[in-house]
Amino acid sequence: MIKIGHRGAAGLAPENTKAGFKKAIELGLDMIELDIQLTKDNQIVVVHDYNLERIAGVSSKINELTLKQLKEIDIGSYFGDQFSDQRIMTLKEVISVVKTKLMLNIEIKMLEDKSQLLINKLKQLLTEENFIDQVIISSFNHCYLQELGPEFKTAILINSHPVDPVTMIESANANGIHPNHKLLTPQLIQQVQQAGYFVNTWTVNDSAKIKQLKEWGIDGIVSDNPLLFFPKMS
Ligand code: G3P
Ligand code: MG
Repeated sequence: MIKIGHRGAAGLAPENTKAGFKKAIELGLDMIELDIQLTKDNQIVVVHDYNLERIAGVSSKINELTLKQLKEIDIGSYFGDQFSDQRIMTLKEVISVVKTKLMLNIEIKMLEDKSQLLINKLKQLLTEENFIDQVIISSFNHCYLQELGPEFKTAILINSHPVDPVTMIESANANGIHPNHKLLTPQLIQQVQQAGYFVNTWTVNDSAKIKQLKEWGIDGIVSDNPLLFFPKMS
């Protein structure tokens, strides 16, 4: 089973920061999930919310600020004073931190007007960095995945019960499915796997649930608290 840290290791360090990614490496996780958006000057940055209110107490939106402006903002103190040096990272910077150490699950956030640009820039970056094989790209917008092309491994994100998960995966030309764990049953996992696709689930922060999902044969689990993957440490 693939052990995946949510937004780095969001329960142990500020989300989507170098401190969190390093924590994930230190713990020996297999993969980290992170979220990408575009800045005002069209740089791919790793951040979940569309604005900085929750993680920095600032009302600005990500797409209204340049990378230089974003780099001035502290996104670590909300988690603890010792993280006040943490700054928004570009995806390129994250790849340089995790390369050879961790795989990435890159979630493309839904953008109103620049989604095509984000997809093209993502394809270009992963190709230039020779990092395609270490990545699963996911999105709640399944059309984004359909556009990526067969060289990229993709997974549809879902947050409601699918009538037919296999048809959903195939209609997006995807390789797997990332459902909210509340939607999972052993039957759903088996149906998807028997059709040749994978099932990774999010966001599981309960050790009994992790145990149950392992018994059901899940391929991967995303958790805010990756210590739960190592019962003797937690
Ligand atoms: O990719 C799994 C999970 O991250 C999806 O939800 O809102 O935490 O990005 P969210
Ligand atoms: Mg996400």
